Amino acid sequence: MMTGEAEMQLICGQVLDIQSNPFETPVPEAARHLRRGAIAIEAGRIVRVGEADALRAAYPGTETVEMGDALLLPGFVDAHVHYPQTGIIASWGKRLIDWLNTYTFPEEELFDAPDYAMEVATRYLELTTQNGTTSVASFCTIHPGSVDALFACAQARGQAIVAGKTCMNRNAPLRLQDTAQSAYDESAALIARWHGMDRLTYAITPRFSPTSTPDQLEALGALWAAHPDCLMQTHLSEQTDEIAWVRELYPDARDYLDTYEAHGLLGARGLYGHAIHLEPREVDRLAEVGAALVHCPTSNTFIGSGLFQMAALQARGLSIGLATDTGGGSSFSMLRTMAAAYEIGQLTGTALHPAQLLWLATAGSARALHLDHEIGTLAEGSAADLVALDMGATFAIEQRAERARDVWEAIFPTIMMGDDRSVAGVWIAGRRAIG
Ligand code: GUN
Ligand code: ZN
Repeated sequence: MMTGEAEMQLICGQVLDIQSNPFETPVPEAARHLRRGAIAIEAGRIVRVGEADALRAAYPGTETVEMGDALLLPGFVDAHVHYPQTGIIASWGKRLIDWLNTYTFPEEELFDAPDYAMEVATRYLELTTQNGTTSVASFCTIHPGSVDALFACAQARGQAIVAGKTCMNRNAPLRLQDTAQSAYDESAALIARWHGMDRLTYAITPRFSPTSTPDQLEALGALWAAHPDCLMQTHLSEQTDEIAWVRELYPDARDYLDTYEAHGLLGARGLYGHAIHLEPREVDRLAEVGAALVHCPTSNTFIGSGLFQMAALQARGLSIGLATDTGGGSSFSMLRTMAAAYEIGQLTGTALHPAQLLWLATAGSARALHLDHEIGTLAEGSAADLVALDMGATFAIEQRAERARDVWEAIFPTIMMGDDRSVAGVWIAGRRAIG
């Protein structure tokens, strides 16, 4: 069900429509830029994209929203976040395992209280919308109420959201542990309650191998087999200490990925966050099954995890999404996240083109979530989840952008230096949410 505006409307501005993957198709063929463009919307969906004059003539008398020189794009899709970590974002001085124990787990314990979960879910969706993000895939906490809170809040806002109960039955505080059986039962009940309702998708969510016993991974693999249209999200090979720990905990596994693979948790609808320090066998298997990796660049520098090998993994044809990893990541902004991806690209020998960065933050993430028929593009029939970017939102950006010779030079300073001030408008299913 789509809950957007029933009335037809035209949103006018500059339009950037990246129609195919710019890692595979040369940028001039992959993207079209309309200097005076428009997007026609009806019943919450995009019905046509074209020159503003042509669309005005085709739909006379239609309500028109004039965004001037702002750049219209699909709303950003953040493919890996932990909404419960909103309140502990930007916590100082730790690496992954210490960071989890010091900051993350104490905060996640608070989600036992449904009111607190609802308060943070509301705050989180407001913050991300202000940053131009219209869809996220979120880990919740072990408490089913934390999933109810995010889905209920997203449903009321008409948003397409992926979420799941984070399952853990060892190496975490007792108050944050479930069991193999309760993880199965509670996740199954949440799937029955939410999966496929309105714009909501359930992701079966083992946190990562160190906090699950083989029994729990096995149970969640069985649950995925019983609900193959659900997504499955987890973490993979983020830090070297973590990988060494996985080796101790799973002495029979060939590598980190094998701890998932051996328990039915490797598949095309699987999302593997971070995936930095991969073995050749792991890359081969991920490519073979068509699984998705999620690059979390601000997190990888903030927690000191390492450098994602974007160019090499793209060359293998892997599906790759982009994400903030709030709150291991240091920003709610997908602009800031694209900037960090660019910087990591530079450190690994490839300058990512603005078209590639924008594609990762929209269609690339949508494809990773298997929602690219619905979000992340301006294709006719897609949901009208849109962002309008002011490409001169601050003096620093404006003085650089004014000498731009094409749209790529015009948008790059906003990618590198922009934030929520750059967001001039947001629409969710055709309904204005910001601006
Ligand atoms: N690995 C397991 N849990 C987490 C988490 O919450 N954040 C990050 N960045 N990595 C993890
Ligand atoms: Zn994460």
